[in-house]
Amino acid sequence: MQDLKGRVGVVTGGGSGIGRGIALALAREGMNVAVSDIDYAAAGAVAEEVSALGVQSLAVETDVARPESVAELADRVYSDLGAAHLLCNNAGVVTFKYAQDMKEADWDWVLNVDLYGVVHGVLEFLPRMLASGDPGHIVNTGSIAGLLPAGTPGIIAYTAAKYGVVGLTEAMKLDLADTQIGVSVVCPGGVETQIVQAGRNRQSRYGGKVTTEMIENASAPQEENTPQDENNAGELMQPGELALLIIAAVRENELYVVPHSELQPLVEQRFDRLYEAIENFMPIDPRTR
Ligand SMILES: NC(=O)c1ccc[n+]([C@@H]2O[C@H](COP(=O)([O-])OP(=O)(O)OC[C@H]3O[C@@H](n4cnc5c(N)ncnc54)[C@H](O)[C@@H]3O)[C@@H](O)[C@H]2O)c1
Repeated sequence: MQDLKGRVGVVTGGGSGIGRGIALALAREGMNVAVSDIDYAAAGAVAEEVSALGVQSLAVETDVARPESVAELADRVYSDLGAAHLLCNNAGVVTFKYAQDMKEADWDWVLNVDLYGVVHGVLEFLPRMLASGDPGHIVNTGSIAGLLPAGTPGIIAYTAAKYGVVGLTEAMKLDLADTQIGVSVVCPGGVETQIVQAGRNRQSRYGGKVTTEMIENASAPQEENTPQDENNAGELMQPGELALLIIAAVRENELYVVPHSELQPLVEQRFDRLYEAIENFMPIDPRTR
């Protein structure tokens, strides 16, 4: 989607960090922006910053883990701003626990926000975007943890969710090939945000607000050369910097935004292991079946 000016962008998790960076960057391009967040005060503050840039803004309280809440967001966007051209499914949380310590509520929280949050966005917005006939684009915020287990030990649910976000975006690219809707998935390493304090907005049904902390001095086995955590995985990037790369990807309809080039060897390492595994098991002798 080349032309952004005058069009409408929607950003979930827009009240902080990468979402705020995207919302402001879209406004600077002349887009009207709906800033949606589970933290309404934070969404409101960013919506004010967006308005100050001379475009229309809308703050909406949304819990992306709840389909009905995302449906309300879509209704508000279409009634107040008239359209949605760019949907950024960006809201995300992380919990720091080893696999053996995870409870069902931990899995539910992270998968429902990080993976189902994206699914709900697609379910609610995509049909309307297609029906409009206008050019459109969907940006899903994945992570380098969606390409390899890139974190400190203890982000198993996050890794599972982000692999899902990468996979669904890749699959969506195929499904939407003959339509006017493009897709991108964003896979950064460390970005300077409040992600480590994700528990500040945990919903009561998953256990309520909590201080989430990274696991220090992790004793679980770690892969050689695996970065310690997203926020240490290479140099921390600023959200505004990442937002400009996302806008470029929207304009060029690029599938991947993988901005931390220093992580390339780790991605290669993962694929090398997969190639090795394939080579080791091929060819299959039919007589052994
Ligand atoms: N910061 C990093 O290093 C990094 C790296 C890779 C990917 N990401 C991803 O970037 C995205 C944005 O995170 P961030 O780093 O800006 O963190 P952040 O905590 O600064 O912002 C996340 C926003 O999402 C909101 N949110 C949380 N739960 C929500 C829900 N149920 N519904 C709606 N909004 C909700 C929060 O209130 C917050 O405003 C996430 O998907 C995260 O996984 C972050």
